Amino acid sequence: MNIQSRLATRARGKAPATIRELFKYLKIDGMISLGGGYPNPDTFVFDKINIEFKNGRSVTIEKDQVVRAAQYGPSDGHAGLINQLVKWQEFKDGAALDVSQFVVLNGSQEGLFIMAYLFLDVDDFIAVSEPTFPGALSAFQSFCKNFIPVPLDSNGMNMEILERKLSERKSNGERLPKFIYVIPNGHNPGGVALSQQRREHLIRIANEFDLLVLEDDPYQLVKLEDTPALQTLQSLDTENRVIRLDSFSKIFAPGLRIGYASGPPEIIRQFVLFKQASNLHTSMFIQEVLLQFLVETGFSEFQRHIRGNCQLYRTNRDAMVSAAQKYLPKEVTFNIPGEGMFIWFQMPEKCNAQRMIDEYAGDLKVLLVPGSAFSTQNGLQNCMRASFSLVTPEQIMEGMRRFGEMIILELR
Ligand SMILES: Cc1ncc(COP(=O)(O)O)c(C=O)c1O
Repeated sequence: MNIQSRLATRARGKAPATIRELFKYLKIDGMISLGGGYPNPDTFVFDKINIEFKNGRSVTIEKDQVVRAAQYGPSDGHAGLINQLVKWQEFKDGAALDVSQFVVLNGSQEGLFIMAYLFLDVDDFIAVSEPTFPGALSAFQSFCKNFIPVPLDSNGMNMEILERKLSERKSNGERLPKFIYVIPNGHNPGGVALSQQRREHLIRIANEFDLLVLEDDPYQLVKLEDTPALQTLQSLDTENRVIRLDSFSKIFAPGLRIGYASGPPEIIRQFVLFKQASNLHTSMFIQEVLLQFLVETGFSEFQRHIRGNCQLYRTNRDAMVSAAQKYLPKEVTFNIPGEGMFIWFQMPEKCNAQRMIDEYAGDLKVLLVPGSAFSTQNGLQNCMRASFSLVTPEQIMEGMRRFGEMIILELR
């Protein structure tokens, strides 16, 4: 695939940072480098770092490791961590990728921004679900504001509608989108997963219309049912069109800001050039902590730990579903999420979610996010997103009772 011709004007023909590109010579045995501008590690403040994990395991980062954690590092990421990520991707998704197909990021949000930076000129288009994740809209809107919104239903983004819209645009001579943005599991805010059939359909559409796909999947492992995981779009990809974003925010710790992109090497290379120019690399310290955790814990135990945590989310989801059935007027519809942290409520057309929050949230003391926050066109006025991640089942019951009251006031 010719990536250069797809890139936004700003990203075309970008030269690598000369000094960063000299790194490869440092691996040669006996090399005396008078080239680097790195500070001398003898001046670093850390001696050793002890970390105790809740799983009872602990690690001490010392000697070479502590120097590595405190020193500048490669722009694609910590080599030891990337080796682990290659294995992790194989372990969880059955995807066999090469180290050149990974770049470590400051969370998947950075990946959303880099994709937009790399591919979007001001007159370009992006196909997204309506509703969609506001963090993605905000990253994309930094460069272009033209969306092709595709409705979401209980099986995820509607691929028939996407296909129809693309065919119409093609026959009208209109621009096709630069990429299709998809949240395949535990959609934020929709609380739905893209069905297997639609995943396969999406890949066929991408091939037919010669498009890239951005697979943003932070909720893949936040599973609320014991059903087997669906195949990732990356594993279904037949023509190197999928750029996948994985995040450790929902399964490790969001404040550390760590995630990664994987996909076609020529696109990952563009991500690395971006990192060279923006923040050099994701914190080596954080990468070292994650590496040590993965090595010390092992993938199977990590997976069991994640599943254990999902029990908390499952209990909360169940509480929210039963509270919704008990307290919300029958006209309010919603899907029961099988992954993630959100339920998307569709209220009767005459409800205006923003007005409801402005008028009643303060007095009733309950807060949800109005649907328009997730719309590309200030639509979805009658929808609300509720999150069940950070509240107790008791708070959920009471919060939903108050939400029910809010709807009744709005419908009067
Ligand atoms: C769909 C989606 N994508 C990306 C992100 C950003 O995640 P990260 O913390 O990895 O940047 C979020 C966070 O809520 C999200 O819901």
